[in-house]
Amino acid sequence: MKNSSSISFPSSFLWGAATSAHQIEGNNVASDWWAMENSAHWAVKEPSGDAMDSWHRWPEDMALAARAGLKDYRFSIEWARIEPEEGRYSLAAIAHYRAMVEGAISAGLRPMVTLHHFTLPQWLARQGGWLAPNAIDRFLAYVRVAGPIIANGVEYVCTINEPNIVALFGRLAKEGPSIISKGMPEPDFEMSNVLIEAHQRVREMLRYDHPNLKTGWSVAAQCFQALPGAEEAAAAYARSRETVFFEAAREDDWVGVQSYTRTVLDQKDGVAVTVRPEKGTSRTLTGWEYYPLALGGAVRDAHRITNGTPIIVTENGIATADDAQRIAYTTGALTALRAAMDDGIEVRGYYHWSLLDNYEWGKFEPTFGLIAVDRETFVRTPKPSLAWLGNIAATDGLTVRQTEAA
Ligand code: BGC
Repeated sequence: MKNSSSISFPSSFLWGAATSAHQIEGNNVASDWWAMENSAHWAVKEPSGDAMDSWHRWPEDMALAARAGLKDYRFSIEWARIEPEEGRYSLAAIAHYRAMVEGAISAGLRPMVTLHHFTLPQWLARQGGWLAPNAIDRFLAYVRVAGPIIANGVEYVCTINEPNIVALFGRLAKEGPSIISKGMPEPDFEMSNVLIEAHQRVREMLRYDHPNLKTGWSVAAQCFQALPGAEEAAAAYARSRETVFFEAAREDDWVGVQSYTRTVLDQKDGVAVTVRPEKGTSRTLTGWEYYPLALGGAVRDAHRITNGTPIIVTENGIATADDAQRIAYTTGALTALRAAMDDGIEVRGYYHWSLLDNYEWGKFEPTFGLIAVDRETFVRTPKPSLAWLGNIAATDGLTVRQTEAA
């Protein structure tokens, strides 16, 4: 038996890394997360503070990615900086993000821009956040004002990152952490509908304002796996947690799949119950089961539910202190991705989460980065995985030792 094999990807493939503004910029003081982090909140161990200081150091971040061989960079723009008070827009913040788009292009990276990645301006949060009566109109107004950022040189725009997780946070905010112990809490139903409407209306607006843009959104894909006999219960469980968000992407130009691990489901009295991984199962720094093949299942689910909307993997990665494990995980994920493509699924690209070690929503410990960042000096130190992924990007291929893909 051959013990290594090569797999290749189309030359048009997008190869990048992803970040989000709040997790790396630092001092995002007008956002709801900043307010939450600086009050006593059960979900926050430590505030984001300066984070990775990428508000100032983004040229260095991009240069490191490009020099390693990556061709694409996904980053988000921050509503709270662009509209720090309702109706008061910061031209300087818009110019900052426009400079990032142009900076990416001159560094040799194609920018993908996310319009909303978990954080809201405090003024909107005070009115009820996504459940405020005029939230969708305010979102549309913000995106229209931010238009110059994406007007030229950007091909792909992601409206909302992980709406299913946003709506889950919505429920946690209402009901508190007690709902966590019962498996993945169900996203807030009303908020899910608001997010779907917001996404579809922004998509139509962008189609009108910027006909060359390709608009989509990114769903947290959980690779649900039903044990025999639990199929129906699992489908019902997945519906509000994932399915409706993929269905909402049927008319999109592309759909983002974000995959980290799987969720195994059994049933009790016809109702789905999550099955804990067996004792001794390897877990990552976030406590999630180490399961690289999840990406294949996630992509297949997205394809089936959207009826074939082109897919981009907008996040995939692992929180680990062991960079060799990151390479092994990503090898397994890319192998599963290639297998899904071989079955006829259109996948246009892969963005690794994340370019940098960053602020993981309440704490800094789970290190997802291809680049380590010293939290006092902000010095960036690329890990071997950055050069490894950059080489795949530059050659559209990788060599897989059989043991790595398992
Ligand atoms: C989010 C990121 C987050 C990552 C790892 C995704 O849910 O989009 O912001 O850091 O997963 O938890």
